[in-house]
Amino acid sequence: MSKILVTGGAGFIGSHTVVELQNSGFEVVIADNLSNSNEQVISQIAEITSKKPLFELVDLANESACKNLFEKHSDIVAVIHFAASKAVGESVEKPLFYYQNNLCSLLNVLENMVIHAIKPIVFSSSCTVYGQPKILPVDEQSPLQPAESPYGNTKQICEEILSDCTKATSIHVIALRYFNPIGAHETALIGELPLGVPNNLMPFITQTAAGIREKLSVFGNDYNTPDGTCIRDYIHVVDLAKAHVVALNRMLNHQQKQSIEYFNVGTGNGFSVLDVIKSFEKTSGQTLNYQIVGRRAGDIEQIWANPKFANEELGWKAEKSLDDMTLSAWNWQKKLIQ
Ligand code: WQD
Repeated sequence: MSKILVTGGAGFIGSHTVVELQNSGFEVVIADNLSNSNEQVISQIAEITSKKPLFELVDLANESACKNLFEKHSDIVAVIHFAASKAVGESVEKPLFYYQNNLCSLLNVLENMVIHAIKPIVFSSSCTVYGQPKILPVDEQSPLQPAESPYGNTKQICEEILSDCTKATSIHVIALRYFNPIGAHETALIGELPLGVPNNLMPFITQTAAGIREKLSVFGNDYNTPDGTCIRDYIHVVDLAKAHVVALNRMLNHQQKQSIEYFNVGTGNGFSVLDVIKSFEKTSGQTLNYQIVGRRAGDIEQIWANPKFANEELGWKAEKSLDDMTLSAWNWQKKLIQ
């Protein structure tokens, strides 16, 4: 079985991707520093797939720890790199931590891939590289705008590092530009588990419905959108996880047409904050306590993907609806509070 290194594999998107990898017959080693996840996730993955992934407690921004990891697992054939800090607001408050953590972890991984002649890497990129697009939907040729946050800037810089790396080494890259991943696995054994007060919309909604939060603040309804609230391309985390397996197989089967390829991993549908709330109330049967407040700094008004290139070239398409996403998020939250 081909062994895949999944950095950040105990996290929200990483854990769902490990499930899909193991269901597809890959052997997985997770490297994670558990700064935004917990080791319980490893056992939950084992319960879902009847196979426990290998786990290494590693801070990939630590050069010697990363070197030891690759020496110990010298049979790795590819890398999926999730390990990074990803809270937009937090990155504004702690820019140096974000640049050090997100850039050094990628640099350490790439240096060791070169040493061990490992070529394929799937990189966790983000639609934040587009900033506020002037034309919607956004496709892979849309211009990259100046990042709105240090987090978004680390994603842009990482894409540039990867591009330069493919020109000077035998490393090949697929960068998946995520839109807004939400929801949870159908077993409700894994899902989004933000530590502390959630930054993101979906966990804040489910925690409000669960009585953990008093009410949801909707950040602004004076945008130039049909109902005044921001629009995003929400995508089910399992659909997103499956895109990583498709991208990995494309590289392992030498089907890439460029040494670095970029794909928008979205549904192509834009939904407003109020649309998400309406869907959640419908699927959960809960009435959500929310209040319209002022805008949040750094928010863009609206973005959704043109997923045509991923659909046709990658051969991947999102299948789950917004209702599937909100229901699965609620089922996960209910399991958490049991
Ligand atoms: C969505 C909408 C908020 C919380 C995320 C990730 C980022 C990237 C893109 C992967 C916005 C509104 C939110 C709340 C609200 N993903 N909101 N009340 O900002 O689009 O970014 O997806 O790389 O890493 O963070 O997602 O869920 O924070 O916000 O009204 O309590 O919900 O204003 O319009 P965002 P989000």
